[in-house]
Amino acid sequence: NGEKGILRYRGIPVDQLAEHSTFVETAYLLINGELPTRRQLTRFSVLLNDHSLVHEDMREFFESFPRRAHPMGILTSMVNALRAFYPELPERSEEEEINVTFTRLLSKLRTMAAMSYKISRGHRVVYPRHDLTYAANFLNMMFDSPVRPYEIDDDLVDALNVFWILHADHEQNCSTAAVRLVGSARVNLYAAISAGISALWGPLHGGANQAVVEMLSEIEASGGDVDPFVARARDRNDPFRLMGFGHRVYKTYDPRAIIMKKMCDKVLKKLKRHDPLLDIARKLEEVALKDPYFIDHNLYPNVDFYTGIVLRAIGIPINMFTVMFAIGRLPGWISQWK
Ligand code: SDX
Repeated sequence: NGEKGILRYRGIPVDQLAEHSTFVETAYLLINGELPTRRQLTRFSVLLNDHSLVHEDMREFFESFPRRAHPMGILTSMVNALRAFYPELPERSEEEEINVTFTRLLSKLRTMAAMSYKISRGHRVVYPRHDLTYAANFLNMMFDSPVRPYEIDDDLVDALNVFWILHADHEQNCSTAAVRLVGSARVNLYAAISAGISALWGPLHGGANQAVVEMLSEIEASGGDVDPFVARARDRNDPFRLMGFGHRVYKTYDPRAIIMKKMCDKVLKKLKRHDPLLDIARKLEEVALKDPYFIDHNLYPNVDFYTGIVLRAIGIPINMFTVMFAIGRLPGWISQWK
């Protein structure tokens, strides 16, 4: 409900899921239409673990990309390539084939994201571990190293679960529409998801989380004064837009932004860190929400406005922010495709 700023997944308010659920449980809810029983959740987690490895022959693909290739470009290519490495098995029913594809995508997209990061830095790939949860596994695959073992911090794992839960679905947004349109030609799901990743990459859509941090950094570099940027956003002759502000549906505060704003404080406090970009973000919000242009245009912070601060604190590189959004949105794309 864009007027009231209400978001529910299968009827459950997203703030309740952020408070009490995990990303894997929320993915199950979106795809299957109801929360899993304990047994169903255990079985789903075992399947995600079984499908968490990526075919070893795919590593050559990753290694052949230029080191500075944007991870979203790598991801959309690699997801499309999955069909070649995991062809349909004639002995499987269509239903079985689809369910295996769901699980493969949910598990391997996360593994491939971490792989692309490690390979881009010339580091050894870290394999998924059977004893770690979905989000903890991702962090370990991203940051574990033979010379500096990564210590799992439960608060960061929680923050990542909340981040992915908040990104999991959002009715007919640009990338979901792309998945449905391409999928409507009855192409395999990998190709449809690859189209969704491409659409999400745009700075007006999922790419906004990276664009917000670049904008906040630009404000910081120019001395921290937000007024000139608000003035540019107001100026109709200036194509500049305030990244992280405005929404196709929400004409009030995006409920996800409220949760992520609180998460910034929680994560930075836990890490005993201060991020000057958070001060700038708060100042920008305060000035914009009092500005007649923003009030008249119903422009409020959206999901992307605060998420970058949390991702930076966790240690995710800025060029992977939209990849993080893609991992979160995958269950929504799958459920809408279904
Ligand atoms: C996501 O659709 C979804 O659900 C997306 C998403 C999801 O979960 O999938 O929620 C995720 O993509 C969030 C949005 C991330 N993008 C950004 O933060 C980029 C900045 N925002 C804008 O580009 C814009 O607000 C959109 C694209 C998000 C929404 O634009 P609208 O509402 O479709 O309409 P519009 O582009 O025609 O803008 C209407 C007016 C225009 O002014 P006028 O010409 O009518 O005078 O509002 C102005 C725009 O210029 N405007 C802005 C603005 N956003 C809209 N002016 C300055 N800064 C902005 N951010």
